[in-house]
Amino acid sequence: MPRRRELCILFFLTASTIPIFYIPAVFYHHDTHFTLIDNWRFWIIHLWVEGFFEVFSTVLVAIMTVQMGIIRAITALRIIYLDAILYLLGGVVGTGHHWYFTGQTNVNMALAACFSAMEVVPLTLLTMEARDFIRVSQTKCSKCQHYLAEKQQWTIYFLIAVGVWNFVGAGIFGFLINLPVISYFEVGTNLTANHAHAAMFGVFGMLALATVLFCMRAMQDETLWNRVKTLVKVSFFGLNIGMSLMVIVDLFPAGVLQLWDAIENGYWHARQLNYLMSGTYHLLEQIRIVGDVVFIVFGVIPIVAAILITFCSRGFASNELIGQKSSL
Ligand code: HEM
Ligand SMILES: [Fe+2]
Repeated sequence: MPRRRELCILFFLTASTIPIFYIPAVFYHHDTHFTLIDNWRFWIIHLWVEGFFEVFSTVLVAIMTVQMGIIRAITALRIIYLDAILYLLGGVVGTGHHWYFTGQTNVNMALAACFSAMEVVPLTLLTMEARDFIRVSQTKCSKCQHYLAEKQQWTIYFLIAVGVWNFVGAGIFGFLINLPVISYFEVGTNLTANHAHAAMFGVFGMLALATVLFCMRAMQDETLWNRVKTLVKVSFFGLNIGMSLMVIVDLFPAGVLQLWDAIENGYWHARQLNYLMSGTYHLLEQIRIVGDVVFIVFGVIPIVAAILITFCSRGFASNELIGQKSSL
């Protein structure tokens, strides 16, 4: 019971940090100096996505896995504290990787480059967590011979996707643009969009969907689940394949082209409208439509349909939470 309370308090505290760290955004307006705005803009963006959001998602995933009966509350608490230390150590000082060239000191550049590079450590641990999720989804109960997380199998698949995109989108693509010498030529180009898409949707989008699915499964009886199961499966593949196509076909190669152009002809050249609207760069952007269509038609529409069908159907098995006693 005290552990259950500790998990709830951690959930409340980490959830509160998200609106609290947004507060600086309400203090600047259209005539505030750009450097001030940019300073606070990244205080919000960075501290959210590479700090408090990451800690919050660890708490959320920990609570879900405790609910499913996969891990004990004490183990969940240990993981949360370890992750919080790792994320906040690298994440808070790492904020300065957005301020390399905004008038801050060399000390900021040195510290931020090192500490944000260290952020890859917890991300790698998370990917190993994804491997554990794969193992859990394949493990059978020794007594009843059913799969341990049978009822939440697709929630687990979405959580595996979180781990994989965290490694690729945040770990690899983030690391790629993190060094000051790269950032100098690259900042605000397509390689940023490449990293931002893969990390933002890959991690927090997939996590949000895992949470939605977790709740949906708790509300559905088996008949209702059988009605929406195919939609959820199609959506899982549609979202992941669509996202991968966007990255492979356009965001990454166009980012590399643009970086090359910035080094060859100057940053101004790689950012001008003429460059963005012509040549291979623009062609790749048009081909990307394939990825966007797959993402929307096979990813977004089916999951929205599954959610609507669940919410509009009567007879929720409301008291049956994932078919197991809560071990919280
Ligand atoms: C889940 C984790 C992460 C998410 C969701 C995320 C998301 C984002 C987003 C949305 C931006 C664009 C911000 C803007 O220009 O308005 C961005 C920029 C950036 N991110 Fe991340 N990020 C994550 C992790 C990381 C990590 C681990 C690193 C480095 C190791 C990193 C390095 C960078 C850098 C250097 C930029 C600046 C690029 C620029 O301003 O052009 N990110 N990130
Ligand atoms: Fe950042």
